[in-house]
Amino acid sequence: MQRWVIDTPRGYDIRGHMRFFCNYGAIEHHLDPQGVHVLPNTLTFFNSKGGSGKTTMNCSHAVASAAAGWNTLLVDLDAQGSAGRQMGVKKTPDDDEGQSLRDAIAMHGRAAPNIVRDVRPGLDMIVGGKHTVEIPELLLSAERTLGRDGAHGLIETVLAPYAGDYDLIVFDLPPAPGGVLHDSIFATLHYVVYTVAPNQMSIDSLEQAWTMVVQGPNPDLEVLGLCVPMWQANAKKKNAGLKSFLDNLSGQMGGYFSLIDPVVSRSDTAGADMVSEQKLAIELVPLIPQRKKEYFNWIKETKAEAKKQGRDVSEVRKERKASEPARLSESLITIAEEHKRITIEVNSRFRAAQGEYLASLMESA
Ligand SMILES: Nc1ncnc2c1ncn2[C@@H]1O[C@H](COP(=O)(O)OP(=O)(O)OP(=O)(O)O)[C@@H](O)[C@H]1O
Ligand SMILES: [Mg+2]
Repeated sequence: MQRWVIDTPRGYDIRGHMRFFCNYGAIEHHLDPQGVHVLPNTLTFFNSKGGSGKTTMNCSHAVASAAAGWNTLLVDLDAQGSAGRQMGVKKTPDDDEGQSLRDAIAMHGRAAPNIVRDVRPGLDMIVGGKHTVEIPELLLSAERTLGRDGAHGLIETVLAPYAGDYDLIVFDLPPAPGGVLHDSIFATLHYVVYTVAPNQMSIDSLEQAWTMVVQGPNPDLEVLGLCVPMWQANAKKKNAGLKSFLDNLSGQMGGYFSLIDPVVSRSDTAGADMVSEQKLAIELVPLIPQRKKEYFNWIKETKAEAKKQGRDVSEVRKERKASEPARLSESLITIAEEHKRITIEVNSRFRAAQGEYLASLMESA
């Protein structure tokens, strides 16, 4: 298993630091009558706009962080179950389609969610799916008995017993401009990285997503940055619009967070490869040389067969299509590099922010 050096390797005291941190957070939570609902090591890539690259970035970040040595938990809160699809868990025996998490929330934490172990080395996952759709309703009905803060803290209550086992918990949220599930997560969450696709609708949604943070009830929620997961280098007009928007945003909010550079290139073939192979770009790159070899062999074989049978090579290829080895696009290499850079940057900001948060807790203690 390839391991990348991310600027907080396990050797550094991040694990002890986090453990201490988690315990401290838990103590603070229990002591605080107002209830500050923060699992300290939680992160999400988010935009309220659908299709803005949230799931891809969350999965990629979780996989890369685990490969770098951080014990990581990925929690899918989207009834589409896209993270399970991306990670290769969908429709396997491990896929409970969100049932155990829904039950754990319904039982107010007295039942345990099913944690699928080692979906990748060092990466565990709580799967989402059709049952996840019931979670907002459960949270709403919990408001009647537990009050708003209590209901919003339920996901934290369910996950708190496991928080100490992980250096990082990554949530994958569905697209939505608000609602009880998002309120709940934004009340629990500690770090967010915005994703924005290069189009006006995604930019509009970013303003909504931004409001969820600044107007939300969680003073400890911090924005680590913003990235563009599907940058189209040749879409000059779109990019000019996005660039001026981002410059403007950076100017307005630059004191609060800075943008994450670089962007991730858009490649539809690479996007399709990631979904069909159920692996992230960073995992597919090592397979490219072997796949290329298989593909060239296949080309050679079909040519030879066509010659032997005196037939047109395109006919033979069509017949043998089913056995064509899947090609992997070269653009995966670029995307893998860009994903990796974003992971490194986010995790170093995450570590720095954790340090600051810890210091602020110590000061107020
Ligand atoms: N760099 C990229 N280039 C091209 N396609 C990409 C890239 N990154 C992601 N995709 C594809 O774009 C689609 C949308 O991405 P993704 O599912 O990550 O977005 P999302 O914000 O999670 O969507 P939803 O709001 O439905 O949850 C997916 O099919 C994904 O494989
Ligand atoms: Mg998604």
